[in-house]
Amino acid sequence: MTADQQKKAAAVAALDYIQPGMKVGLGTGSTANHFITALADKARAGFDVECVATSKQSFELARRLGLKLTTLEQQPRLHVTVDGADEFDGNFQLIKGGGGALLLEKIVASSSRFMIVIADQSKKVETLGKFPLPVEVVPFGVNATAWKIERALRILNLQGKLVLRLKEGKPFVTDSGNAIIDVSIGAIPDPNRLDNLLSIIPGVVDHGLFIDICGIVLMGTDEGVRTLRKE
Ligand code: 5RP
Repeated sequence: MTADQQKKAAAVAALDYIQPGMKVGLGTGSTANHFITALADKARAGFDVECVATSKQSFELARRLGLKLTTLEQQPRLHVTVDGADEFDGNFQLIKGGGGALLLEKIVASSSRFMIVIADQSKKVETLGKFPLPVEVVPFGVNATAWKIERALRILNLQGKLVLRLKEGKPFVTDSGNAIIDVSIGAIPDPNRLDNLLSIIPGVVDHGLFIDICGIVLMGTDEGVRTLRKE
């Protein structure tokens, strides 16, 4: 099975968790796109759900496929969010934000009773950090925010290479108008402490560590979809 086939199988398996009448958060990325497509097929057959998208990209796909869309303003509590991830570890902690949607993804997932991550098996890691950690920052004073991120890393005896994310040669702009600094760390032995230290830096809007938000991972493998549940 290719990684994309594993992503699709995990996305289809997530449909089992969706009941009629549910308010559903829609993630962002290629795996989430498989879920949006599968859910839209079901909705066209008469299955009633209302969805909140985590990015313009997911909103547009869901709209085009005819899913009923609402907003967190109208529906501030959701039943479930289904989203992909860049990495997950054995404690169900995640790195997200490879697609740049981490802020809205975290707001939506944390407004849901539970979050299901759908992923191919390459996303499972022993220790988070192989994937560069996206940190969403206010564009004002981006270099001043950067040295405070470096200082936070030093407190934890970590070293990171910070790179301002670019798109077509210009700074990447998130759906909320912010920039992203990708921080290559290598291994993050204590994601909770890093979460705490990054969250208090002025100028850091949010970061891609999702701590204690995800409860279920559906992981596509060559042998089928494995369900991993947090105790
Ligand atoms: C977007 C994300 C995505 O969930 C993550 O990047 C995984 O992407 P894909 O499903 O394409 O592998 O966090 O901000």
